[in-house]
Amino acid sequence: MANYKMAEANSRIIPLEDKIFGINKLAKEMIAKEGADKVVNSTIGSLLDDNGNLVVLSSVVDVLKDLTPTDYADYAPIAGTPDYQRDIKKAAFGKFQPKCYTEAIATPGGTGSIRNTIQNYSKRGDQVLTSDWYWSPYSTIAQEIERTIATYTLFDDKGNFNISSFDNKVNELLSKQDGLVIIINTPAHNPTGYTFTDDDWDKALESIKNATKNGNKKVTLLVDVAYIDFAGDADKYRSFYPKLENLPTNILVIIGFSMSKGYTMYGMRSGAMICMTSDKEIADEFKTVCSFSCRGSWSNCTRASMVVLSKIFADKALLDKVTAEREKYCQMLVKRGKTFQASADEVGLNTVPFDSGFFIVVPCENAEEVGKELQKSGIFTVPIGKGLRVSVASVSEAKCKMLPAKMLEAINKVNA
Ligand SMILES: Cc1ncc(COP(=O)(O)O)c(C=O)c1O
Repeated sequence: MANYKMAEANSRIIPLEDKIFGINKLAKEMIAKEGADKVVNSTIGSLLDDNGNLVVLSSVVDVLKDLTPTDYADYAPIAGTPDYQRDIKKAAFGKFQPKCYTEAIATPGGTGSIRNTIQNYSKRGDQVLTSDWYWSPYSTIAQEIERTIATYTLFDDKGNFNISSFDNKVNELLSKQDGLVIIINTPAHNPTGYTFTDDDWDKALESIKNATKNGNKKVTLLVDVAYIDFAGDADKYRSFYPKLENLPTNILVIIGFSMSKGYTMYGMRSGAMICMTSDKEIADEFKTVCSFSCRGSWSNCTRASMVVLSKIFADKALLDKVTAEREKYCQMLVKRGKTFQASADEVGLNTVPFDSGFFIVVPCENAEEVGKELQKSGIFTVPIGKGLRVSVASVSEAKCKMLPAKMLEAINKVNA
């Protein structure tokens, strides 16, 4: 535990430097010294074009440029403008029309939805369940509000969803806690790129229903869909939603939606938490408690991005334009992922089961050392415990093709 002069650790483990930021800095230093063509910087969690520039949807920027001063200077209501609350549901659900009560609360990015879910649906000291491969800010957020993360093993030894590990953990935690928040990040999970199949969903929901069937325990299922608009076909990747609409009332579903990727609004801090429940009182309560949390943490979110979304959804031609532009970049990303996977298969490099999205994980022993070995040849990846995270979102297709052979070479060298 750090011995701070003035600060209080409050049970948090606070690293001195963000790991990804640190490796990214090394990559940038090497680019400055040796030139961009000598370096593969696959640490970045934003979509970059083949020249390493941030992809920004011009159709969205045009709307932003057209806003009135009031649109960006004024406060927004705490829970979001009424138009935004309506339209963000359309953005999240697409063609799916939920047959249950849904309420949306604006949050600063998907991050805010995670924070508010943990704050309102678990108790101080509780454990929040997610998979062993997970986005590390889940733990930061949990620690900030005096909770911790518990994990189940995502994959069994055949590379399938490990339902028995999931089921064991759900029951273990519910034997100790009155309620449980479970975070499932799908489609295009960060960091593995895995997407829950229909069968995975059926098994997970069956497990949760069984564990709560007596009615004296409750589960809040946070489905973190941060990457839903960059997974591939919009309808196909939303086909799991109907499974979530008729659950018992002691299972609350919250969709954590982000405009960061899908609308390239990373810095505008826009997203939402959307509840799905068959009980109107639970939906009303959701609005009350989550609005309180907004007021007590960030107050309200950026009005400009809310107006942008509403303008897009008010104009069919504009929505089509944004969708078509995103589609083009989505295909670029999907191609990069497929190229990496095909090349990995060709050279015999093992990857954690990948479907689509920004990242792929290569499992290996001594990931830190392998990462350093790769840096010697200008390849920057992020060691995450049991493997190396490669951002296919930030490197060209040509680099995705050559990376697996280089990675295999480094793994073999370090672990010889
Ligand atoms: C798994 C996951 N969830 C949620 C988010 C939310 O991000 P933001 O708060 O920028 O919308 C991210 C962003 O990287 C993510 O990777």
